[in-house]
Amino acid sequence: MARQKFRRINEANELPNVYDESGAQFRGRWKQDIFGNDRKLTLELGCGKGEFSLEMARRYPDRNFIGIDYKGYVLWKAGSVALNDALDNVKFLRMRIQNIRDFFSDGEVDEIWFVFPDPFPKNRHEKNRLFYPDFLPLYQAILKPQGSVHFKTDSGFLFDYASEVLHSQQISIDDSLSYHERGGTHDFHIATTYERKFLSKDNPINYLRFRFV
Ligand SMILES: C[S@@+](CC[C@H](N)C(=O)[O-])C[C@H]1O[C@@H](n2cnc3c(N)ncnc32)[C@H](O)[C@@H]1O
Repeated sequence: MARQKFRRINEANELPNVYDESGAQFRGRWKQDIFGNDRKLTLELGCGKGEFSLEMARRYPDRNFIGIDYKGYVLWKAGSVALNDALDNVKFLRMRIQNIRDFFSDGEVDEIWFVFPDPFPKNRHEKNRLFYPDFLPLYQAILKPQGSVHFKTDSGFLFDYASEVLHSQQISIDDSLSYHERGGTHDFHIATTYERKFLSKDNPINYLRFRFV
């Protein structure tokens, strides 16, 4: 298993639709240089195997998507599915979200999604939570002024944490809900393996959307 993971990390670097630190050269030019258009760009931060980004790319062929994760072997899976399904409007980027400003220029991104980010419940890991206050200025900088941030999670703990951080920064939440049902048509109903697992246990999924205005 460890050997397979190692092989896939290396192979991910060789897939034409998976970028590593060399992707920083496209800062400010992803749409023009990589997608060859000026269409809306959505990022999924912490995309894992890319199930959400892949489904969004199928749903919206006239938009651009980049899934980001630091794990090479999950991006190998994501990139392979995109190639297999001839999805040209979704790419993957291997890097730590802490470094996102090295890869995207101010206002380059139209929308950000967080889909089941790791909750990091231990206090000593708080800085890794993607809603830790230090992360917010990074997201604000790369987003267009009216750009939306979407977040969904099965973790009541992380949902409360994120809501409190946003509140403390005087960022108002545009939309917030909790659901159990499968199969709705809104983008937040696109179900990754995590979501199917949580819904089968009848865990509620919490969703919120906000903008930095
Ligand atoms: C629980 S998984 C969810 C994956 C995917 N969104 C889904 O729903 O299937 C969270 C992912 O976030 C990634 N991640 C966590 N912190 C990260 C960071 N600082 N930079 C990049 N990726 C990160 C992890 O590697 C993991 O693949």
